[in-house]
Amino acid sequence: MADEGSKLQSLPMRGVPQPARDDVLALPEVFISRHPVVAHKVTALRDRTTTPPDFYRLVRELGTLLAYEATQDLHLQPSAIETPLEPMTGARLAGGVGIVPILRAGLGLAEGFRQVLPDAQIWHLGLRRDEHTLEPIEYYNQLARASNLQVCFSVDPMLATGGSAIDALNILKRYGVPHLRYVGLIGAPYGLLKLRQAHPDVPIYLAALDERLDDRGFICPGLGDAGDRQFGTL
Ligand code: PRP
Repeated sequence: MADEGSKLQSLPMRGVPQPARDDVLALPEVFISRHPVVAHKVTALRDRTTTPPDFYRLVRELGTLLAYEATQDLHLQPSAIETPLEPMTGARLAGGVGIVPILRAGLGLAEGFRQVLPDAQIWHLGLRRDEHTLEPIEYYNQLARASNLQVCFSVDPMLATGGSAIDALNILKRYGVPHLRYVGLIGAPYGLLKLRQAHPDVPIYLAALDERLDDRGFICPGLGDAGDRQFGTL
């Protein structure tokens, strides 16, 4: 049986002040989806009766929808082509796109992004949150030097304390990756504020903003553990 000390250690957010949802809604460069189909799918995701195959499918679908929202302002360059009827000048994305799924839970989101951006480079980064301290631990890194990238999306469903997102962006910046954006499904006000403060230059896209973190650091009402629910390791 856990003694009192280790029980307290597993409640790292107990007594930690947290901002309210309204305090962070107007932070700069924070985009919380208002799309009804996104809200519909997030509710299905939250439902405890949703099975892992359906959960994974929903994460992929939300990845596709958020990719659409988070790429609205990408730059284009003119591109001369010939249609079956005549020559014309069309437009293509100016520069490549990178996607960085934060393992494990970011894998489904990255798959959704690839539906929209099949030519994107995918760089895997493994971060695991220590459940006692909530500190992120890096355990896998398959990053490459960026060249000619217009934008790079760090994708991870859950923004809880913000530690993993902040660390991921620190690592990507050390690699010299330019034009970073963060895309997640559900954020807590605490983590959103921390991320905004640590990386004010990185736009943040979320499907939903929740109320708070519980004493263990879980987002409430949330959806549970996005990694376990995608991969059936409950
Ligand atoms: C979860 C989630 C984020 C992180 C969020 O990953 O996918 O990466 O925790 O928490 P934070 O904002 O407090 O850092 P987890 O460590 O559970 O790993 P998993 O993806 O392998 O399930």
